[in-house]
Parts: sequence; structure tokens; C-alpha cells
Amino acid sequence: MWQNIEAAPADSILGLTEAFRNDPSPDKVNLGVGVYKDDAGRTPILQCVKAAEKILLERESTKSYLPISGDPTYAACVQQLIFGEGSEVLANKRAATVHAPGGTGALRVGADLLKKFLPDARVWLSGPTWANHKGVFTTAGFPLGQYAYYDPANKAVDFAGMARDLQAVPAGDIVLLHACCHNPSGVDLDNDQWRQVVAIAREKGWLPFLDFAYQGFGAGVDEDRYAVAQFAESGLDYFIASSFSKNFGLYNERTGALTIVSPDAAQAAVALSHLKTVVRVIYSNPPAHGGLVAATILSDPDLRRQWLAELAGMRERIVAMRTALVEGLNARGVAGDFSYITRQRGMFSFSGLSDATVAWLRQNKHIYVVGGGRINLAGLTSKNIDYVCDSIAEALRS
Ligand code: LMR
Repeated sequence: MWQNIEAAPADSILGLTEAFRNDPSPDKVNLGVGVYKDDAGRTPILQCVKAAEKILLERESTKSYLPISGDPTYAACVQQLIFGEGSEVLANKRAATVHAPGGTGALRVGADLLKKFLPDARVWLSGPTWANHKGVFTTAGFPLGQYAYYDPANKAVDFAGMARDLQAVPAGDIVLLHACCHNPSGVDLDNDQWRQVVAIAREKGWLPFLDFAYQGFGAGVDEDRYAVAQFAESGLDYFIASSFSKNFGLYNERTGALTIVSPDAAQAAVALSHLKTVVRVIYSNPPAHGGLVAATILSDPDLRRQWLAELAGMRERIVAMRTALVEGLNARGVAGDFSYITRQRGMFSFSGLSDATVAWLRQNKHIYVVGGGRINLAGLTSKNIDYVCDSIAEALRS
């Protein structure tokens, strides 16, 4: 069967991790995949997760199937986290949530559901966006469009271009928005700009689909839900793909959720019924462990407090690495103003490194950066920061 079939290209992000693993160099540094590392270069299991797992080990009494939509306690915890405790969405039961295998699974469940009811829609993605968005939505059968987002000259959001493009999106199309910590650029809308985007969505009648994979990595858990809350206030239908991969470090437990917000409870119930039909034919029902861990932490005040402190620790370390990178480049006399790196939010920085420089760094220095120049700041440590700054300085001089 495979004799006349060419091999598929490696994934632009996860393929880089594979190449990194196979690189025997002792100097190698992985600034590719969006995975948190501590200053020792390890991706730790959070202490609150370890504590929750201990509780679960004692309490868990079955490995029987979960419901198609997942554990209802998990769905309630997801909703509390993404909307905030006092949210009217919770009181009015306007949201339907299914436990999906990671943020990617949530996007795909949402995409498959949308294809059923908006078969002729186009999906609009930010320019640039996370590479896998394109794959998920084209595989679900959607044509893609692109709206302006990142302005490389100013290293900021091109909001005039974005607003112009979103005004032109036809009613019934779908617009994928990064709720916080834009991947790959690290530049986010401010609150006023979010309010304008919500107003455009309402006026033009397109469907917002928020990718919310980094809650807590921007300014904080509460601050980062601003876009989600603004859309909730608008009364529009919208979708949210959320994930516990990053903020709970539950990467390999594939713990995410797809939430659909509707104008009222009756419509949310209809949405849930259709979500279940989509889930059933893809993976039947979700894996339990990650969801049980997240729900155990979020419903225990002490563990929740511990989680928030650990999350703040991750966020603050990344911020410190942003400063260290800028200072390191300045100290080496690298031409240019790199202060924009400290204004970006989340795990990533669109470093401004060209694809040629990215290739040079990999080949000569064993430093792995995603094509387009996206750096995962969490891959920097006090041990490798000088090596990385020296290497970038050398790359830009050569
Ligand atoms: C990333 O952007 O690096 C992460 O979201 C991991 C992934 O699946 O690509």
C-alpha cells in the first residue's frame, strides 16, 4: 500500500521535539513546543496535581466509562474557571461543556459540530496563527480565510487591519480568536479592543470561536478571561476550546473542554445533545484521569490556592526569562530594540528571527525554534540563557 506514497512532512511543532530528542548534542536547547519548563529544564508535575492524584488513588472505585460528555463535576469546574464564579452564564445554565481530549480535541469537536450546521461557512484565522488551527479546520472540511492580526513593523496587534477584516467577514462564517496569550505572536488585544471585536461580531453576525489554551499565563486566571466574559455579556452564541495542558501541566493527560454558550438554557441543552453525537463517533467518551485531577483541585479550596500559587510561579518565571533574554541581547550589542519581548504575554515570543536564522541556530547551535521565529520562553533557563543569547548574537552577525 505504501510503496508509491510519499512520507508526510513532520509536524512543524511536535516534529521539532522529535528532532530535538534525537539530537545527541549536550548543548541542545528546545525553544519549540509550548511546554513549560522550570529553571532546571524539567517539565514538573505540579504539587497540587500530585496531591490530587494521591486522593484519587484512594477514592477512585471504578474505571467504568464516563458519560459521553465527561464527568459532570469536571464540566462544572471548567465552566466556573472559564466564566468566573459569579457569572450569569452559570446561573442561567447557558453553557454546554464536554470534556475533550486536550485543546486540540476540543477544537476538532467544535469544528465537526459546526460543519453539520454551518456547512458552507468559512473559518477565519488570525495572521499568523497556531499551525494546527489550519489542519484542524481544513480536515473538518472548512475553507479558510485570514484576518490581519500581527504587525511585524510595530511588533504589536494591527488592530485597524483586524477590525477592517472582521467587519468584512460574512454573517454565518466562523472567526477563531485567541482569548489570551496569542500563539504564536504573544501579542494580545487590550480590553477596549476586545469590546470592539464583540461589537463587530454582534453587528456582522459571524460566530466567535475562542481558543483559550493559556488561561493564567497572561496576567492571571481572572484577568485572562476578559474576552470570554465580554462575549458572554453580548448574549451571542459562541464556542470556547479550553485546555488544562498548560495551566495544570496536564499535557499528556489530554484534558480539555469544548464549551458552547447559547442565549438560553433550552438552546444550550440542544447544543449539548449534538455535542454528544459528535463525541460518540470520534472517541466515544473522554479519558477520565486528567479531568478527575483538575476537578479535585478546583473543588478543594486548599488545593485550588496551591494551584494558583504554582501557576503564578510558572507565569513569573517566564516573565523573568523575557527580561533576561532582552538584557542578554542588549549586553551583547545585538542591534535593535528588543523591549517588545517583555510586552508580549504567555509562553511565546515572536522573536523576529527569520527562517534562515532559525535554520542556522538549529544546524550550528542545536537550538530549536519554530519556523516563523516563535520562541518558547519557558525553554530558557539560567543555565542556557547565555548560550542562547551568544548564539543569537552570532547568528545575527553571520
Ligand atoms: C504549541 O503551540 O507548541 C503547543 O500548543 C503544543 C502543540 O500541540 O502544538
